Amino acid sequence: GKGNFRHFMEKELHEHPAVLGDTLQQYLDPATRAVALPPLPFDPATVPRLTMSACGSAFLAAQVGRYWIEQLARIPVDADVASELRYREPPLAEGGGAILVSQSGETADTMAALRLLQQGGQKVLSVVNVPESSMARESDGALLTVAGPEIGVASTKAFTAQLALLACLAIGFGRARGTLDEATARLLASTLTEVPGHAALILEKDAEIRAMAAEVAKARDVLFLGRGALMPIAMEGALKLKELSYIHAEGYPAGEMKHGPIALIDTAVPVIALCPSGPLFEKTASNLQEAAARGGRIMAFTDAVGAKALRGFAERVIELPTVHPFAAPILHAIPVQVLAYHVAVLKGTDVDQPRNLAKSVTVE
Ligand code: F6R
Repeated sequence: GKGNFRHFMEKELHEHPAVLGDTLQQYLDPATRAVALPPLPFDPATVPRLTMSACGSAFLAAQVGRYWIEQLARIPVDADVASELRYREPPLAEGGGAILVSQSGETADTMAALRLLQQGGQKVLSVVNVPESSMARESDGALLTVAGPEIGVASTKAFTAQLALLACLAIGFGRARGTLDEATARLLASTLTEVPGHAALILEKDAEIRAMAAEVAKARDVLFLGRGALMPIAMEGALKLKELSYIHAEGYPAGEMKHGPIALIDTAVPVIALCPSGPLFEKTASNLQEAAARGGRIMAFTDAVGAKALRGFAERVIELPTVHPFAAPILHAIPVQVLAYHVAVLKGTDVDQPRNLAKSVTVE
C-alpha cells in the first residue's frame, strides 16, 4: 500500500535513500571502499568498445553511465535509444560488449536491441530491477538494481538505483582497465557511500521545491539545462515534468541553448538549471545570465558555492549538499523528480497513472 503517502510516487520518492543504500551495498564494500563486481559477460580490461541502449528514463541513466565509463575507464561507449539502435546500423566491434538498462526488463524496444546486439556478436550485460524478467534471462549476464517494486508509472527510485549501479561499474571498469588508481577509486567509492545520506537531506527540502513548483505550474513551457553528466539529468527533469503535469518541457545541454532554444525565452519561461559548482559551472552560469538578460526566469539546483554566484540574477536557488562532482548527477535527479511530482499535484493530474502511459511498454 501507499502507507501515509498520497500517491505511490510520493512513497517511492521517499525510498530514494534506502534504495540507493541497498543497491550500492551490492557492489561496494563500505568497510574497504572497494568496488566488487561479479563476473561479467565481457572483460572490462580488454573490451574494445561498449554499446549502451535503453528507453526513456533508463536511457538517460545509460547516458550518464556513458560519461562516467568513458571518463574513468577510457572505454569508447556508444549510447542509442533502443528504438533507434538498429536504424543507425552501427558497425559493432569484434569482441565488443553491451549494457542495457531497464527497470521492468520487459520493454519491447530494449528486448529488440538485445537480440540485435547478440546477433552482432556482442556480449550483453543487462542492468535490471526485475530478476525474473525476460531481459535478465536472455542477456549474457544481469546485474540487479535493488529498488524493489515500482508502482508509479514514472520511474523514480529505479532511476537513481540505475545510476548508483552504473557508478559502481564505472569505478570497477576503471580499476580493471588500470585507468583509475586505487586512491582515486577509493575516493569516488566513499563519495558514493555518502549519497544515501545526502538523498535524505534533499528530501527535507520538500517545502522549498513545492514553492518552486507553484511557479512552474503556471508556465506553458519550461527549459531544463545541464552540462556534462548533468545534461541527461536535465532531460530527466523535462521528461518527468512532461509526463506528469503535461506541461511542455525540454531538457538541453546548457551550451546548446544559444543555438536555438533561446528564441523561446521570455518572461513566462522558467529556465531550470542543474549546475553544481565545479569545472563546468562558469560556462553554465554565463548561459544562465544570457537567459536572464532576455527576461527568462532563472531557477537553479546547485550547492552553496554555486548559490552564491547565482543569487544575483536567479529568481529561485535551491541549495543541495556539496558533493564531489562524480555524485552530483545522482543527487540532482531527486529534486527534479520531486519538482515534477508537486507540479502534477498542483495541476491535479493523475500522478501515478499519467494519461496514455503504461508502466511497461511491450510493443515496438
Ligand atoms: C519515465 C519512464 C519511462 C521508462 C521507459 C523504460 O518516467 O518511466 O521512460 O523509463 O519506458 O522502461 P524500462 O526501464 O522498464 O525499460
